[in-house]
Amino acid sequence: MYTQAMDTLAREGGQDAGGADETAALADAARQRRFDAAIDDGGFIEAKDWMPESYRKTLVRQISQHAHSEIVGMLPEGHWIARAPTLKRKAILLAKVQDEGGHGLYLYAAAETLGTSRDQMLDALHGGKAKYSSIFNYPTLTWADMGVIGWLVDGAAIMNQVPLCRCSYAPYARAMVRICREESFHQRQGYESLLTMMREGTGAQKAMVQDAVDRWWWPSIQMFGPPDSDSPNSGTSMRWGIKRFSNDDLRQKFVDATVEQARILGVTLPDPDLRWNEARGHWDFGAIDWDEFWNVVGGHGPCNAERLQARVDAWEEGAWVREAALAHARKREAAAAALPAEPLAA
Ligand code: 3HC
Repeated sequence: MYTQAMDTLAREGGQDAGGADETAALADAARQRRFDAAIDDGGFIEAKDWMPESYRKTLVRQISQHAHSEIVGMLPEGHWIARAPTLKRKAILLAKVQDEGGHGLYLYAAAETLGTSRDQMLDALHGGKAKYSSIFNYPTLTWADMGVIGWLVDGAAIMNQVPLCRCSYAPYARAMVRICREESFHQRQGYESLLTMMREGTGAQKAMVQDAVDRWWWPSIQMFGPPDSDSPNSGTSMRWGIKRFSNDDLRQKFVDATVEQARILGVTLPDPDLRWNEARGHWDFGAIDWDEFWNVVGGHGPCNAERLQARVDAWEEGAWVREAALAHARKREAAAAALPAEPLAA
């Protein structure tokens, strides 16, 4: 039988004299070997390829958390669209927040290819069972927070997400290529907005930028997740090529890149222990407050309840849109079915 399908192994192994169980076990072992070889070669797994259930579950966990982070991440900045100081800044912020919504949609679609429906993922978010990034549970108090979120939060996101463009699960990797291009614009617009305030702003505006940096620095470096020694998922995710770098390695790369950017901007990073370590060739930084991190991840940060409520309200208030779209689709289907069949071409 000729086929172009990529999941032919799923159909291998008919019954033979050794019995169905033995055949199934042999087929499973062959599929596992093929999966392991693809991973070891740095290859990609497609949605229709066979994969171990634990690999599928890990991906659904990570991609759905990532998707939730994108749509919850629209909220702290959305708050400032109507308060932007100029038309130009408003247009940029509007575009950025729309991009985040789009990223959420690509990611939900990538997770759906693994057999979990968007309704299931959203139920988990709305029920408070699903995680999303800790960073979005902090308030945005001033306009300078918009610039600092672009510079530090999107900057941290890019550092973490560029390696995901080479994630072993191809639909996630493909989504990440486009997302990273847009994130790069997000980071630059934030930095440019801060540069403008620091170079052309009043003393009060410069102080506003420094205050925003003081509040966002530590939550930004917590975004990379717990230290490697306390990260239960890193081992298997790295073995499977889902994560290409560990949480601590990415955090260090981010600190190393950001110190120089802060100097050019003219702000101080709020860490008295930040100093260049010649022997390591990296910046040393102070102790991270992991109690604060776990408190926020556990739902007790300054804005967790508000963020979740905003998502639940948006879902409930949008019910009529979903109903109208379904009614319209049904109407079109019925109209198409009622049309006379096309005459066959002579
Ligand atoms: N916030 C909330 N939870 C976090 C977290 C954070 N910053 N960092 C880690 N966790 C959670 C993990 O999800 C995991 O919980 P679980 O086992 O219940 O799923 C637990 O803490 C232990 O952490 P691990 O290090 O073992 O977890 P991972 O191996 O999954 O690594 C990660 C965590 C680095 C965030 C990884 O999942 C990842 O790279 N995810 C994809 C990127 C992503 O989701 N980024 C979120 C920000 S998106 C964004 O910023 C939008 C942009 O527009 C600004």
